[in-house]
Amino acid sequence: MDLQQRGIVGLLLLVSSLIIAITAAGPALAKGPTVERQRPVKDALKLVREGRRAFRYDTFGSERFWGDRLRLHEALTTVSPTTALAVGLKVDRNALPSSIVKALKAGQVDLADPAVTVALLQLDAVVGVQGFFESGELTSVGIRCALCHSTVDDSLAPGIGRRLDGWANRDLDVGTIISLAPDLGVFTSLLGADADTVRAVLTSWGPGKFDASLLLDGKALREDGKPGAVLIPPAFGLAGVNLHTWTGWGSVSHWNALVANLEMGGVGTFVDRRLDDATRFPIAAREGFGDIRNDEDRITPKLAALQLYQLALRPPKAPRGSFDRAAAKRGKAVFNGQGRCADCHVPPLFTEPGHNLHTPEEMGIDSFQADRSPTGQYRTAPLAGLWTHGKGGYFHDGRFEALIDVVNHYDGWFGLELSSDEKADLIEYLKSI
Ligand code: HEC
Ligand code: HEC
Repeated sequence: MDLQQRGIVGLLLLVSSLIIAITAAGPALAKGPTVERQRPVKDALKLVREGRRAFRYDTFGSERFWGDRLRLHEALTTVSPTTALAVGLKVDRNALPSSIVKALKAGQVDLADPAVTVALLQLDAVVGVQGFFESGELTSVGIRCALCHSTVDDSLAPGIGRRLDGWANRDLDVGTIISLAPDLGVFTSLLGADADTVRAVLTSWGPGKFDASLLLDGKALREDGKPGAVLIPPAFGLAGVNLHTWTGWGSVSHWNALVANLEMGGVGTFVDRRLDDATRFPIAAREGFGDIRNDEDRITPKLAALQLYQLALRPPKAPRGSFDRAAAKRGKAVFNGQGRCADCHVPPLFTEPGHNLHTPEEMGIDSFQADRSPTGQYRTAPLAGLWTHGKGGYFHDGRFEALIDVVNHYDGWFGLELSSDEKADLIEYLKSI
C-alpha cells in the first residue's frame, strides 16, 4: 500500500468507528435530559396580556383598605358623575353598552344623579376603581394602578373615552377623593393627628398629585409650608430606565410591590429593610412596613407580568402640529450641545444609561423630597412623552409651571447663557420628544 492508499483506509476506519460510536451512543443521548424549547416571544406576549389585566383591573385586595377601613364606597353613593369627573375620575367608554353611549351622546343621561355613578361602577366603567356589589348594593370599593396611571382620550365627552394606559392622570385629585371617606381612622392613628387636620392635608395636594411618603414618614408639609405631595408620573417609557420614581427608590418591580402593599393597601408581601430607618421613616419603622407578610399573597405572583406590561408601554408620539418642527430640530442641537441636557437626559432614554441619580445640590433645588427617599437624591426624569404631562407643572412637585421656567432654572444654575431664541427652540424640542 502506498501512502495515499493507507490514508484512505485509515479514513475509512475512522469513519466507520465513528458511525459505530454514534449508533451505540444514540439511545443514551436520547435518554438524556430534554431541555424545553425556549419561546420568549410567545411567553412575553402572554405575560404582557396578564400584566395589562393586572394594571387595569386588579385591586390586589385593596378593597380591604378603601372599602372595609375607609368605607369610601359609602361616600361614592352620594357623588354625582359630574362631581366624580370633576375630581378627575375617568370613564372607559368601551365598558359602556351601546344604549348608554347613545344616551350619553344625546345628553339623556342625568350626570347630576349619584345613582348613575353607582350604575357606572356596576358596569365596571370607572377607570381604576372597582365597586363590589351584593344584591345590587355597593358594599365595598378597591383601587387599581389605572386609577392614577391611566386616563382616557375624551372621545365621547371630557373624561369619557378610550383608555390611555400608562398616562399620568393629572386631573385626578386623589387627596380630595380620600378626604370624602367616612372613616379616616387609619390616617389619624398612623399620623397622630385629628380627622380635620388629615382632611386639610389631603385636600391641599390638588389635582395630579399624591404623597406616597406620607404614611412612611408623616411629613405632611414642606419647610416652606407647601404640601409634600408629588406629581403622578407616567408609567410608560420606562424600559431601559434604571431607577424609578422621582427619587430613585428602586426598580419598577420594587416600586410596584411597595405601592400595591403600602399605598393601595393590597394584600401581599413586601420587603425593604431600608424602611427600618427610624430617622428617615419614623412611621414605617414603628409599624414594620419594611417587612410585610400576609397569609395570602395577591401581589407577588403578578409582579413579573405587571413589570413587563409597563415596560411594553411606549411613550406616545407628540401629535403633528403640536410643536414647530423646524424649531424643534434646532432645539435638538441645543439639547445635545450648548444646553448640556443630554449629559444627563441621554437620548433615546432621556435618562442616564447607568446610575441615574443626582444630589439636590447638583440640581440646584432643595432636598426635602430627596431626603424622604433612601437615596437622598433625585432621578433624572425620562423625558419621552413629556407632552402628555405638562399639567400640574414640572419637576417632582410641579414647582416649575411651564417649560420656560425649567429652562430658565437650568440656564441660571448651570450658567448656560442660552439666548431667548435658543430657549424657545429647546422648548419646541421638549414638546416633540
Ligand atoms: C394613588 C395614585 C397611585 C396609584 C394607585 C399607583 N401609583 Fe404609581 N405612582 C404614583 C405616584 C404619586 C408616583 C411617584 C412617587 C414618587 O416618586 O415618590 C408613582 C410612581 C410610579 C412609578 C415610577 C415611574 C417612574 O417614572 O419611574 C411606577 C412604575 C408606578 N408608579 C407604577 C404603578 C403601578 C404598577 C401601580 C399599581 C400596582 C401604581 N403605580 C399605583 C401614584 C400612584
Ligand atoms: C445634572 C443632570 C441633569 C441635567 C444636566 C439636566 N437635567 Fe433635566 N432633570 C434632571 C433631574 C434629576 C430631573 C428631576 C428633577 C426633579 O425630580 O425634581 C430633571 C427633570 C427635568 C424635567 C422635568 C421632567 C418632568 O417630568 O417634570 C425637564 C423638562 C428637564 N429635566 C429638561 C432638561 C433640559 C431641557 C436640560 C438642559 C437645559 C436638562 N434637563 C438638564 C437631571 C438633569
